[in-house]
Amino acid sequence: MTKNYESETQTGRKIVTNVGQLVTPEGRESVSGSGMNRLSVTSEREILVIDGVIQEVGEVGEFSDRELEETEVIDAQGKVVLPGFIDPHTHFVFSGYRSEEFQKRLKGRSYEEIAEEGGGIVSSVSSTREVSFPKLKEEGKERLRSMVRFGVTSVEGKTGYGLDRETELKQLKVMRELETETPVDISSTFLGAHAIPEEYAGRREEYVDFVTEEVAPLAAETGAEFCDVFCDQGAFTVEESRKVLNRGKKLGLKPKIHADEIEATGGAELAAEVDAVSADHLLKASDEGLNRMKESNVIAVLLPITAFSLKESYARARYMIDLGLPVSLATDLNPGSCFSESIPLLFSLSTLYMGMTVEETITALTLNAAAAIDRADQVGTLESGKQGDFLILDAPDYQHLSYHMGVNLVERVVKRGETIWERNGPNF
Ligand code: NIG
Ligand code: FE
Repeated sequence: MTKNYESETQTGRKIVTNVGQLVTPEGRESVSGSGMNRLSVTSEREILVIDGVIQEVGEVGEFSDRELEETEVIDAQGKVVLPGFIDPHTHFVFSGYRSEEFQKRLKGRSYEEIAEEGGGIVSSVSSTREVSFPKLKEEGKERLRSMVRFGVTSVEGKTGYGLDRETELKQLKVMRELETETPVDISSTFLGAHAIPEEYAGRREEYVDFVTEEVAPLAAETGAEFCDVFCDQGAFTVEESRKVLNRGKKLGLKPKIHADEIEATGGAELAAEVDAVSADHLLKASDEGLNRMKESNVIAVLLPITAFSLKESYARARYMIDLGLPVSLATDLNPGSCFSESIPLLFSLSTLYMGMTVEETITALTLNAAAAIDRADQVGTLESGKQGDFLILDAPDYQHLSYHMGVNLVERVVKRGETIWERNGPNF
């Protein structure tokens, strides 16, 4: 989808000067293995952005000393600058909260038990079906604003709280309008196969047919770029998931998959088979499945806040990186298993509990996250030709992203050269 959001402040020449530490991965495709640890870290830098696109990165003074008329200068005051974060797996368009379920889980009940009692995904389906379009849109917009404050400049969002034609399309239209009306880049994913809705109880085959034959074509027309399926025990089988993803592919929807979160049912293997862009969760993925993903260059999108929230063991990030898989990270923001859009929490979990380095975490949230939404040619690094999407951190060194635990260090967020959030300044 091409971006329609238009802002006068995205055009013209901008210089970001006095960058104390410029931190970025490099390249236009996902990186794996030891490549994930390789960041370019330079000091005393300056970035020239023209019409929202990075023209050049150079030494302080290189561009600002030239006689440039009508150039806006952003002074980074010697601070850290890095690419905007990308959240490549969220369910941010929903209505209705499930805090009472969270309370039950605090008292020891499991996510699966609660789902069996009528909570879980289907409870969010009822409230998302009922809510009006404007209210759903406003709620989604508010969540985007919150994500931006954590430095997120591109977001992937999924349907899957509709499970009927009208509401699945309502979620997609919300994302399409927010893509047009806000500076954030939004990639939409059709997740009609998220759960079996109550009206299809006992008729799973019919539901899969309904999703693939009736809703998926309309989703493709309504801005969806990816097709996803919850392939797991208690959700969709490998055969059903294969059907959904292959049908999506025929409609031009690139495959993604919620795989092997609850049990190793073969989701990772299916991801490799259908050439998925990414396979996400992977808490229980088998060695065989991960090896096949590696052969097919499927990106592993890990969602540690979900594991944290469900008190499950984390995905084997260290093993995956050492195996040579491209690994990305995302929040999985949703009203049930993971109600959090916190990038600082994600940094803490990946570095303290998953054996990832700060450098690998940055790569996972920038270049590899861009690749997980098929945008690595446009965003994810600070190099000429990429969008001018970057963050200024209130920290002397990028290591503080892990060291200064649970604290939002983002001071300014710039999207296509336009400041879209400042700690003490304007918001969009
Ligand atoms: O990505 N795993 C499946 N679906 C969501 C949970 C959605 C919900 O609980 O509402 C997830 O974690
Ligand atoms: Fe999810």
